[in-house]
Amino acid sequence: MKSISIEAPAKLNLGLQITGMREDGFHSLASHFTKISLSDTLDVTLTSKKNISISCSGIEVPTDKNNIIWKAASLFKKASGYSEGISIHLQKNIPSPGGLGGGSSDAASTLLALRELLNTNLNLFEIAEQLGSDVPFFLLDSTSAFVTGRGEILKAVTLPQFHCILVNSGEQVPTPLAYRLWDQHNKALTDTQVIHNNTAYNFGAWHEGKPFPVKLDNSFFVTLQSSFPGFTGVAEKLSEVTDNWGLSGSGPVFYALFRSSAETEKAKKHLSGKFPWMFCCQSR
Ligand code: C5P
Repeated sequence: MKSISIEAPAKLNLGLQITGMREDGFHSLASHFTKISLSDTLDVTLTSKKNISISCSGIEVPTDKNNIIWKAASLFKKASGYSEGISIHLQKNIPSPGGLGGGSSDAASTLLALRELLNTNLNLFEIAEQLGSDVPFFLLDSTSAFVTGRGEILKAVTLPQFHCILVNSGEQVPTPLAYRLWDQHNKALTDTQVIHNNTAYNFGAWHEGKPFPVKLDNSFFVTLQSSFPGFTGVAEKLSEVTDNWGLSGSGPVFYALFRSSAETEKAKKHLSGKFPWMFCCQSR
């Protein structure tokens, strides 16, 4: 039986602006996506059975058709004509929902693994778009991208290296609810021109002590504060250790960025015990 092991990295949204409402009901956005060292692992095996089976260790997630991995494998079978079975073991480390793209990354890694195992040159981007807005990004070789449209317009960029602390407010924020709340409360679209003007990939400056070269504001933060009171406390505590903090996606995970492991350790001591979940990692 042919088998492959593949890593599925988490992402951070380094800033996220909602820039428009689309006719298909989705929102257009502008955000810098970047992959980080926190990851899941998938062991993907081709089997002689006809079905798709999933097992899981680590953080508990559904192992049936509701798992996006199952949907990815199923769409791949349909598109490629492969009719035998697929068995996938998922070591789940990325909290969900988190705003870290864990499910989307698992789905993209499933597609990449199957393409490798079956040696096809199927266009995975078409399948990825059907699976979810964040899935196309995880097909890119590039670590970071400026992402627009619904999430499918990708421009690879290079950002400075960083260390980060991830924390969770402890609240559950499903993505569709976050967009619904934004529709109800806000609708203040960000002019895309403003985003481009604020985007200068100036590496030296960040490592010389200036703020991170990409604006870290997130359109969801103010909107979600009233429904998720934990957000305010997290923002206050992270502000005590750095100006370079932000909300990833629609949360509930926030990040704080640091230039060195020494700075990270100092901040970690200050923040220790103040959140239901905390994790230290790095850029890729
Ligand atoms: O594409 P994904 O499955 O991540 O989207 C989940 C939900 O989030 C969508 O059904 C939609 O309500 C909302 N969404 C949106 N605009 C986006 C991405 C997601 O409105 N760009």
